[in-house]
Amino acid sequence: MKPEELQALKQKALQAAAQAPDLPALNDLRTRLFGRKGELTLLLRQTGSLPPEERPAFGQAVNALKEEVAAALAQAEENLDQAAAARPGRGAEDVTLPGVMPRRGRVHPITQAERLILEVFSRLGFEVVESPEVELDWYCFEALNMPPDHPARDMQDTFYVSSDVVLRTHTSPVQVRTMESQPPPVRIVCPGKAFRRDSDATHSPMFHQVEGLMVEEGISFANLKGVLTTFVHQVFGQDVPVRFRPSFFPFTEPSAEVDIGCVVCKGEGCRVCGHTGWLEILGSGMVDPNVFKAVGYDPDKVTGFAFGMGIERVAMLLWGIDDLRMFYENDLRFLRQF
Ligand code: PHE
Repeated sequence: MKPEELQALKQKALQAAAQAPDLPALNDLRTRLFGRKGELTLLLRQTGSLPPEERPAFGQAVNALKEEVAAALAQAEENLDQAAAARPGRGAEDVTLPGVMPRRGRVHPITQAERLILEVFSRLGFEVVESPEVELDWYCFEALNMPPDHPARDMQDTFYVSSDVVLRTHTSPVQVRTMESQPPPVRIVCPGKAFRRDSDATHSPMFHQVEGLMVEEGISFANLKGVLTTFVHQVFGQDVPVRFRPSFFPFTEPSAEVDIGCVVCKGEGCRVCGHTGWLEILGSGMVDPNVFKAVGYDPDKVTGFAFGMGIERVAMLLWGIDDLRMFYENDLRFLRQF
């Protein structure tokens, strides 16, 4: 190769280095020149095929050329780096960009509903009490006026741990335990898990309840109606109609189920309320004298009312959720909405 040709090759390489638009282009160029089959690499190899007297001069010329081109490449790289650093947001911090928000956890809708319910009853002077989920037959059934052969036990779909120990089917045992351990007056709400052998879109083998109990001298059905109506209005809104419908529970007499005007159709009748315009929301009643006797209270002196509701049901009605299993699947797309 003649000196002019070497010169031309050098000019071409220096120009290409100066014009490389970005780092990847520059790296490509470096490979094309210095790679195993790069132009300059191959050039140096030609040295061997020259007449011996020409070899030193050619070798020197090529090496000088390589050094110059390598320096030009290094310079070009530094220029590109500096340009990148000067551009806002690349390399340098751009304080005008929106920040990256960390994902925040949320309170589970069941817990939210539970807190809402307890808050309302706290304001009405009820104290929150809890007790074990695995319970003795006595607290779950017998003290609640359900002796071993009582047909009402069939209603409960009980999980038995042993003949005498069950997973509580409701949180009523909390009320029995509380009455056993203290004299009246009692004004408590009992949140917690309950268990029944039942599973579909509106029943889960594990679910949550809040039950309540108010006992002292002179408590009447009027107190029950007053407290529960206030509760419904506080949770579902002042304008929601409430009705008390006669019912049966072994541990209360008389008993009433409480319905609210359908939150979906506002009483017109729809699929959700079975075209009745009403939705059942809780069970309640005046504590049966047999329950008082079982815990050592004198039914001639004190009276009281009790109530119980499923938290899942309240949450479903509050937020229009039609499948209770959503609460347990922990799908973040669902949970993030609360
Ligand atoms: N313990 C009842 C249940 O779980 C609810 C209830 C409580 C009803 C108190 C009346 C009085 O079904």
